[in-house]
Amino acid sequence: MGRLSRDASRRAADPHRQRPPPVSYPSVQRGRGPLRGHRRGAHLGTPPPAPAAADLTSCPLACEHPLPQQCSPLARKSVMQKNAGTQAFDDELRKLLASRHAIIYVQTYEEERLERALDSLAARAFSQPIPFVTWSVTEGLCFADEEPLPNTNEPLAALDAVLTHPKTALFFFRDLHRHYEDPQVVRRLRDVYRALRRSYKALFLSGPELRIPRELEKEVIVIDLPMPTMEELDEVFQEVAGGMKGLAVELGEHYDKLLRGSLGLTEDEARGAFTKLLVGKRSVGPSIIDRLYEEKRQIVRKEGILDFIPPRISLDDIGGLENLKDWLRQRLGFFTREAKDFGLEPPKGLLVTGISGCGKSMAVQAISSYWQMPLIRLDMNRIYAALAGTPERTLERAIQIAEAIAPCVLWIDEIETALVGTDGEGASLATRIFSSFLTWMQEKQQMVFVAATANEIDQLPPELLRKGRFDQIFFVDLPTQSERYDILAVHLAKHNVPNPDDFDLLSISKSTTNFNGAELAELVKTAMYLAFDQGRAVTNKDLYRAMSQIVPLATTMSERIKEIKRWADTRAIKAND
Ligand SMILES: Nc1ncnc2c1ncn2[C@@H]1O[C@H](COP(=O)(O)OP(=O)(O)OP(=O)(O)O)[C@@H](O)[C@H]1O
Ligand SMILES: [Mg+2]
Repeated sequence: MGRLSRDASRRAADPHRQRPPPVSYPSVQRGRGPLRGHRRGAHLGTPPPAPAAADLTSCPLACEHPLPQQCSPLARKSVMQKNAGTQAFDDELRKLLASRHAIIYVQTYEEERLERALDSLAARAFSQPIPFVTWSVTEGLCFADEEPLPNTNEPLAALDAVLTHPKTALFFFRDLHRHYEDPQVVRRLRDVYRALRRSYKALFLSGPELRIPRELEKEVIVIDLPMPTMEELDEVFQEVAGGMKGLAVELGEHYDKLLRGSLGLTEDEARGAFTKLLVGKRSVGPSIIDRLYEEKRQIVRKEGILDFIPPRISLDDIGGLENLKDWLRQRLGFFTREAKDFGLEPPKGLLVTGISGCGKSMAVQAISSYWQMPLIRLDMNRIYAALAGTPERTLERAIQIAEAIAPCVLWIDEIETALVGTDGEGASLATRIFSSFLTWMQEKQQMVFVAATANEIDQLPPELLRKGRFDQIFFVDLPTQSERYDILAVHLAKHNVPNPDDFDLLSISKSTTNFNGAELAELVKTAMYLAFDQGRAVTNKDLYRAMSQIVPLATTMSERIKEIKRWADTRAIKAND
């Protein structure tokens, strides 16, 4: 059983749970305490009178707490990356309570899970359990296991009750944002902020996207609830499987894989997926893992930000690009625990630039199958379409899912389309999104390998190319003669023509200067059609005929290709041998 629900059941059985013993918060006195020096005036507004040294010895929190570092969404992200996981979330909240952060906004889709976490926190964060109090417009203020406080359904009345409540408590207000049009509510919320930061009471708000009144933007601290950990998913699986009588779970060593495959799902999504996989079965074996991936693909797709790409392309499907392949081979073991123990940092990412149709997107797809990590594609246009509220939130959500799935490859195809060509408001949004993304790339601790591709490479902003962002920038050129040979052979084999020696590929590869990989693939396909049309196997002649029907793009774009090559000469290393 995982931590959260263990706590929940423990608390249910705990007599203190019913009636928490009174805990008074320390009286506010003027003076300088050790916490004071850490406060950020700019963020918190006028600092409250700091508790006297004597007050701190009577601090009701159970342990010593350094102050949190975050105050902006960007700072918040970096903190959460360093401390990903539910334990880190719990630690972070303790620090926030210790430093008397009055209003804390937790960004999450998982309200119920958050409430359980807060309930558990209220039981443990202080030297004695304190009440966890919820509010909703339908129920009013509810102390656990007690009748709702009368006349507190209206947000104003509820906030008043928070203000006047004499004891330390954690308050969680559901959907308060629905009442922000009322100036009195906003005013009262500001009063609550001012009053609560002199106490150890705290007010929590939450939602999938950040919604706080403008007047409180500087005061409210924002943190993310991390996605469920493997331990929590284990608990959900056990709960679902345990509820199905007579079901034999025969996963053995694959169980870990199943849980790892579920990372990135919310608790409810995982519960739904497990139920779907197990319902009506007498026994389940490793084959459910593939079905789980399919379920997950559907769920993640429904959210609309990321796509799961099935592992369809291997390194062997790519003709040439030997330098790039070698780079990948050398780093095969870099994501393992052994590499970490050895002191190796996992690679951060790769930028594959170059000429259209030469295998950039293929190469990225092959990384994931070669390194055996899931591949998820991030479409920057969907970020701007703000599918999860605001573009910033959508990017954060995408990163959150990717980090929960880590180790994984995050593929951003044609990254330049998202970064250039906008002006006015669009440009400033693109700059904001882009700088959040770069900060994340620079600081990320999770094993999310970013594989980006770009065509219009001379338009890429220099910040993207700076050291520390991508481990390597590769330039994919038009294939050389021997690469053309390999590409033709790969595509013949793909069409069930496995023996390249049956053809004069040497001479065809010599005659196809300027052909890119896509055109060579097209050449083979056209030859196959010609042969099929005449009801016979493909011949050399078909290949030649097909060749004569294709005008390579590079011939018409020679100037542009020269420019691209000039750019790449000094900035990238060649993917081709
Ligand atoms: N090196 C290669 N080996 C085998 N096939 C290739 C290679 N390069 C390209 N192809 C073929 O061309 C198609 C297009 O390749 P891919 O999409 O990877 O190119 P790209 O460089 O990403 O192009 P674009 O810049 O237009 O997105 C592939 O599906 C494949 O059939
Ligand atoms: Mg591509």
